[in-house]
Amino acid sequence: MAFKDGFIWGAAAASYQIEGAWNEDGKGPSIWDVAAKYGHIKHNETGEVAVDHYHRMKEDVALMKEIGLQAYRFSISWPRVLPEGTGKVNEKGLKFYSDLVDELIAGGIEPLVTLFHWDYPYALDCRGGWKNKDSSDWFLEYTKVVVDALSDRVKYWMTFNEPQCTLGVGLQLGAFAPFQKNSPPELLRMGANMLLSHGKAVKYIRDNAKQKAFISMAPYSSTFRPENDSEEAVNKAYEDTFACKLENFALSMSYWSDPVYLGKYPDNLVKEAGDLLPRFTDEEWKLISAPLDFYGTNIYYHAGYPDNGSGYDSNWSQGCPHTAINWPVTPTTMYWSAKFLYRRYGLPVMITENGLSEHDWVCLDGKVHDSYRIDFTHRYLKELSKAADEVPVIGYMHWSVMDNYEWAQGYDERFGLIYVDYRTQKRTIKDSGYWYKSVIENNGKDL
Ligand code: NOJ
Repeated sequence: MAFKDGFIWGAAAASYQIEGAWNEDGKGPSIWDVAAKYGHIKHNETGEVAVDHYHRMKEDVALMKEIGLQAYRFSISWPRVLPEGTGKVNEKGLKFYSDLVDELIAGGIEPLVTLFHWDYPYALDCRGGWKNKDSSDWFLEYTKVVVDALSDRVKYWMTFNEPQCTLGVGLQLGAFAPFQKNSPPELLRMGANMLLSHGKAVKYIRDNAKQKAFISMAPYSSTFRPENDSEEAVNKAYEDTFACKLENFALSMSYWSDPVYLGKYPDNLVKEAGDLLPRFTDEEWKLISAPLDFYGTNIYYHAGYPDNGSGYDSNWSQGCPHTAINWPVTPTTMYWSAKFLYRRYGLPVMITENGLSEHDWVCLDGKVHDSYRIDFTHRYLKELSKAADEVPVIGYMHWSVMDNYEWAQGYDERFGLIYVDYRTQKRTIKDSGYWYKSVIENNGKDL
C-alpha cells in the first residue's frame, strides 16, 4: 500500500473559523458575524477573535512548516476583500491573503484557495443573498478580485466548500447562518444561482489565471457502505449514495456534482421536481459543467440508512465509536467515497477535509496527547491508501490545521493538529501533528 509520488499532504482551515479581526482594516460583516451576535451559537460564542490568525499568520505558517505540511487549504473572507460584497475593494484585506500566500510559498507550502467557505457578506444577504438573480454576478465580481490578485502564485482553486451546508443547513434547516427556512422551490432557485456562480467563477479562473489552474468544488461526501462484497450490494450502495430526493436535495452530493461534472440534474430529482427545477440555457449549462481538474471532497463519515427500528442507524450499528461532536467513526467511508466518486465522475479525487473533534487539553508535561486523533487518522488513511491502489487519489488535507471556531457549536470541540489555548492564544503542536509529520515524511508508506 503506498500513495503515488506527488501525492499532496496538507491541512485545512477556513477564514471565519480562524481569522478573528472581524471588523479590522476595513472588513465588512459576514452573515456569521451577525448571527453570532444574535444568539444562534452555543454559549453565544463568536468568531470575533477566533484564533487570531489575522494577527498571527506568520507564527501559524511557521508551525505548519514544523509539521512538514506540503499544502495548506484556506478560504478567503469575501467581506474582508469586498466589505459590501461588491464595489469597493478593501486593499488591506486583500493584502492579508497575498502576504499569506507569500509566506506559504517561502515556506515550501502549496496554497490551495477556497473562494467560498460560508462567510457570506451581510450586505449581500440584505439584498436577498442567493435568491437574488444577480447573485452569480456578485460571485463573479468577487472571484475576479481574488484571482487577479493571487493567481500569479496560487494554482489550486475550489469554488464552494460544502455547498450542501450553505443551502441545506443554512437556508433549509435554519441551523447555520443565515438561519433561514426556505421551501424547496425557493431552495431550487438559490441552488441554481450557486451552480451558476460556480460556473462563472470557473470560466474566469480558466481564462484569466496567470498560470495553469487546477480547479474543483469541495462538497462533502456522504457515501453508503455496501452491506457485503457482492456486486449487487456494491451497486445498491452506489445507487443510494447518488439518489437525490426533492425533500433534501440540497444536502445530497449529486445535486451539486451531477450538474457540475455530468452537465445535468440528477435523474430522480428531475422526475420528482418536474417544472419546479429552474431551467438553464445551453450557454449556462456549458458554464456550469465546464471540465474541472479533480474532484475535491470533505469526508467524515458514511451516510446513514434511516433507523431500522433498533434505534441505531443500520449502516453504523450499535456501539459504533463516536467523536466529541458525536459523529460516527466509519473509516471505510474513505475507501467507498473515493471508489464511488471516481466511478461516477471519472476524475482524480482529493480529500479536501478529514479529521475528528475531541476534547483535547494540554497535559502536565506541556504536551497534547491526542491518541484518538492519531488512531482515527491512521484508520481513515489506511482506507484511503487502499482506495489509492485502485483509483487516482491526489491529496489529503487534514481538518484542521489548528483548533478553531466550529460554527454553531462554538469552541467546544477541537479539530486541530495544533492546540490553541483560546484565552492566551498559545499554540502547541499536538502528538497527532508530530505523527502526521512522520506520515508525510514517508508518503504514507508505514500506515
Ligand atoms: C466541514 C466544514 O467545511 C468545516 O468548516 C468544519 O469545521 C468541519 N467540516 C468540521 O465540522
